[in-house]
Amino acid sequence: MASRIHCLKSAAVFGLLAVAAAVAGQPTAAGAVEEVNLYSNRQPELIQPFLNEFTRLTAIKVNIVFAESGMLERIKAEGTNTPADAVLTADVNRIYQLAEADLLYPLKSSAIDKNIPTQYRQKDGLWIGLTTRARIVYASKTRLKPGEVATYEDLTKPHMKGRICSRSGKHEYNIGLLAAVIAEKGEQGAEEWARGVKANLARKPQGNDRVQVKAIKEGICDVALGNTYYMGLMQTNEKEPEQKEWAAAVNVVFATFDSKGTHVNISGAGVTKHGRNRANAVKLLEFLSDDLAQKMYAELNFEYPVKPGAQLSPLVKSWGAFTPQEVNLETIAKNWGLATKIMDRVDFDG
Ligand SMILES: [Fe+2]
Repeated sequence: MASRIHCLKSAAVFGLLAVAAAVAGQPTAAGAVEEVNLYSNRQPELIQPFLNEFTRLTAIKVNIVFAESGMLERIKAEGTNTPADAVLTADVNRIYQLAEADLLYPLKSSAIDKNIPTQYRQKDGLWIGLTTRARIVYASKTRLKPGEVATYEDLTKPHMKGRICSRSGKHEYNIGLLAAVIAEKGEQGAEEWARGVKANLARKPQGNDRVQVKAIKEGICDVALGNTYYMGLMQTNEKEPEQKEWAAAVNVVFATFDSKGTHVNISGAGVTKHGRNRANAVKLLEFLSDDLAQKMYAELNFEYPVKPGAQLSPLVKSWGAFTPQEVNLETIAKNWGLATKIMDRVDFDG
């Protein structure tokens, strides 16, 4: 194993950053250390608390490789020698692409079947969604009048001219939203929507979701698109308290499509086809789908747990309820390539 982990150190070549988990595996009775190697494109600080808890309960060490991008290429290139046993992604497309490339192993776990509703399980068991998040509108408390933005379509209307901030159109969160727009309106309708939003931007797309809220606070724009959990992360940010002030400047608006429904994406997970610690990988996913981890996802990360009966964090609950768009997650993933092309065609970032 040492040499396999060592080979992860070449990850920088692939644009990956190897991070050793700050968790200690315990030797088994036979003296071997039980472990699982996890590739993740979720931010390490968002998942480390769960992994520490998993290790504490199971004595299985988690070696994590943070893959900001290039996870698919990396696992493809490693082939049957991949050290990766399990993968976590921040959106449906990345996990879908791994399945399409035949790099995932079908999960057979009655615990996972019980914990994860059917709509968040790929039909052959190749991947699951562990949590959901909605892509919503952050709206200025002082400058956005009631009813000005209730739908995603409203963002394209003349009264929003010069009032919208956005991160890059090429970021996966905005590609995911446009993939959902394609599902609603088809290619031409989605292109018109993206052009309409671009025409209403207050400035060139830049920064991450939180930076858009800062811009609203500073009066640069009145609304922005963002993921729900960033609102919670800003509202409770003790390390960077200025983020609390940004968040205090906006309301959460669960924008819907004209037809109804808010765009929702998942955090995805799967077990690799060629990993050598498969049983431990399944145990990790079972743990992440069960009560304790689902509660941690809700309370620490402000995500929506998918396990039936899992409670939302009170803060998330305070934003109100919403209805997710009625669409198969695979449809969102299948629309991804076209959504990327449309963003280029309309030169969203230009
Ligand atoms: Fe994120």
